[in-house]
Amino acid sequence: MANHTMVNRKGIVLAGGTGSRLAPATNAISKQLMPVYDKPMIYYPLSTLMLADITDILIITKPEEQALFERLLGDGRQWGLELSYATQSAPRGIAEALVIGAAFLAGDPVALILGDNIFYGQGLGPTLRQASQQAAPAALFASPVKDPRRYGVVEIGPDAEVVSLEEKPSNPRSNLAVTGLYMFDGQAPTLAASLKPSARGELEITDLNLVYLRAGGVNVHVFERGYAWLDMGTFESLLDASLFVSTIERRQGFKVSCPEEIAWRRGFIDGDQFAALAADAGDNDYGNYLTQLSGDARR
Ligand code: G1P
Repeated sequence: MANHTMVNRKGIVLAGGTGSRLAPATNAISKQLMPVYDKPMIYYPLSTLMLADITDILIITKPEEQALFERLLGDGRQWGLELSYATQSAPRGIAEALVIGAAFLAGDPVALILGDNIFYGQGLGPTLRQASQQAAPAALFASPVKDPRRYGVVEIGPDAEVVSLEEKPSNPRSNLAVTGLYMFDGQAPTLAASLKPSARGELEITDLNLVYLRAGGVNVHVFERGYAWLDMGTFESLLDASLFVSTIERRQGFKVSCPEEIAWRRGFIDGDQFAALAADAGDNDYGNYLTQLSGDARR
């Protein structure tokens, strides 16, 4: 459980960005609040942090959207979390999340996750918990992709060491994309604040990763075949993610990234609290799932 861990890692979910590629769908609502099959998008990255036993989490949104996220998630107590909120007034890069989160982090190590990333696969939780408990200066998570040119790309040597790290290279040196989950030590806000904005005017997360790499401190965990890493920046990828989640859920009967279930299974809330959540969720597919889980556990 989180409070028994040695490394007290905090979490940040970056749910800012303009979402302009998804207009008009995002004209009146944040991308990260749009449904991915049966739940709001932000449930997925939140669940990933929860699987890593991270419970103290800052959610960064656009200023005008903060109230919507607060309405959805509140202070997190219902899931045994401690949620705080901050805003990013313009899309000035992923690394800026660490600058915005400096006071929240107060020198603690961090797991930063992008609000539109889904991670799924056998053993994900133990892998994340292990990585989170290691005191490495920086840990990255890579995944094979068909078109690495769209991503940060990492090249790995024979001893799993990082050989190169490039942002959206036109000639990728590997097929391993750097996913939107990053773990850093307590130095990250200071290092991020010292970065120069890139040509697209952003504090690039790849530049921060390069700072850590030059200091010799980057671990990379590769999610091999059998894991799914999805991001949702286009209508196609949004639909793909919904279809992926629906396929798994309808076939297996288990929900993907259900924060209530994770909170209960990880012991952030007890059986009574879980039963209360199930009762509150109402008579719908989601609520019935929680009710059934809760009832099975009591039998
Ligand atoms: C960003 C990062 C890139 C990373 C990707 C993961 O890309 O810059 O390194 O691979 O997220 O989703 P962006 O979404 O800013 O184009």
